[in-house]
Amino acid sequence: MSPIDARTVPADPTSHARLAAAGLDYRLVDGADRDALGRTLQAVSRGFLGPEVNDESLTEQHTQLADRRYTAVFDASIAEPEIPVATVDSWVTPLTIPGGELDMWAISGVTVSPTHRRRGIARAMLEGEVRAAAEAGLAMAGLTVTETTIYGRYGFGSAIPMSRWTIDVRRAGWSGGEPDGRVEFVSREQLARDLGEVHDRQRTLRAGEIAGWPRRWRQHAGLSSSVKDGDSVRGVRYVDADGAVRGAMAYRIAEGESDFALARLDIRHLAAETDDATAALLRFALQHDLVAEVRTDLRPVDDPLRWLVSDERGAVQTIRDHGWLRILDVPRALEARTYSAPATATLEVTDPLDLTTGTWHLEIGADGRAHVAPTDAAPDIRLGIAQLSSIFLGGVPALGLLAARRMAGDRAVAAALDVAFRPAQPPSLSIWY
Ligand SMILES: CC(C)(COP(=O)(O)OP(=O)(O)OC[C@H]1O[C@@H](n2cnc3c(N)ncnc32)[C@H](O)[C@@H]1OP(=O)(O)O)[C@@H](O)C(=O)NCCC(=O)NCCS
Repeated sequence: MSPIDARTVPADPTSHARLAAAGLDYRLVDGADRDALGRTLQAVSRGFLGPEVNDESLTEQHTQLADRRYTAVFDASIAEPEIPVATVDSWVTPLTIPGGELDMWAISGVTVSPTHRRRGIARAMLEGEVRAAAEAGLAMAGLTVTETTIYGRYGFGSAIPMSRWTIDVRRAGWSGGEPDGRVEFVSREQLARDLGEVHDRQRTLRAGEIAGWPRRWRQHAGLSSSVKDGDSVRGVRYVDADGAVRGAMAYRIAEGESDFALARLDIRHLAAETDDATAALLRFALQHDLVAEVRTDLRPVDDPLRWLVSDERGAVQTIRDHGWLRILDVPRALEARTYSAPATATLEVTDPLDLTTGTWHLEIGADGRAHVAPTDAAPDIRLGIAQLSSIFLGGVPALGLLAARRMAGDRAVAAALDVAFRPAQPPSLSIWY
């Protein structure tokens, strides 16, 4: 259990006042109150283009997402004033960072009704989330996004790129050998348990991952009412030579339309805590009879898949943004992680919400630990908090942001930061939230 329960954090008074001035009521919704939660979830589902939330789905979310803090905006003047016109939810989760974990304020379910769009409601809610999280003592906030152009203005930066693969399995072939363990089918109930248990161990191995939750695994396993044709999901797991479950994979196969032997296998989720488990489960997918194409998403940018196949041109990798971070406290965030090399830099940080604005001296010692303090010295680098959040886990290069004019300053210092910030393996975030 996280030390901070997000549900106890009050709604931000500044955003409350701003929305009240526009005739709107911004307040927390008690997620334990099934009816109130149901009305909020109707608004969330409508915002994400989903269907009406049915009883089964409400029960799932009521029981399986009990730690969520729901905030909503109400308009007393509309036909259904009890249905919010805007929503956001949040909770505190461990974020894996190099050398350990950092509590993170996770944000999800951001919606504004199409009838109330572009009046500044999302701005009030997002700023409210960031201020509430900082006020509660968190040093980091994070989210995954529907569109990349929404969150930079609040200080969020794209920090954890991930990759998507389309594999022509006949051309790609396989050169990864055969692991010692075995791959076996499991029921979907067992699959949901295995995905959750493996993820919980795997998430500590790479920076960028966060804790999962039961409903996420039940969705991947096709057991949630939110998943269409859930019974077409199949599950396998990898058991190593000592009998321990080290990986699990949920997938679905779409039959070839013109030819039985042209089916497509979509990996819904692959959780693996060892290289052998990753290779065995990918091999299962790529060597599946009657399958011509495999697709998979949310794989790390250094996915060994590239080298597990015989012809890497048969496997097309597309890299794109996935995890977004927002530093709320510069010294605490930067001092929480370990680094790969010593470095010294003076960073002038600007923050649209003024939470982290200032000039900071960063000193990373030979022991891989950082010390950060405010300074009056001239900066080596000038950057926004979104850019500092982008480079925080070493998944986005400072030199790249410098070249793109997203930050300014000394190239040699940016290069030294890249060497120091980059962990042995790039950060990874294998789920949406
Ligand atoms: C995205 C969404 C939440 C925006 O809500 P909104 O109340 O209309 O946004 P606001 O009026 O507060 O806009 C705030 C700022 O964001 C910008 N903005 C809003 N939606 C945007 C979008 N989709 N893309 C880029 N910028 C956007 C506005 O132009 C405004 O910019 P400025 O204040 O810097 O001039 C809303 O359109 C929505 O619910 N979309 C569907 C669900 C969704 O995608 N949610 C995001 C989940 S990650």
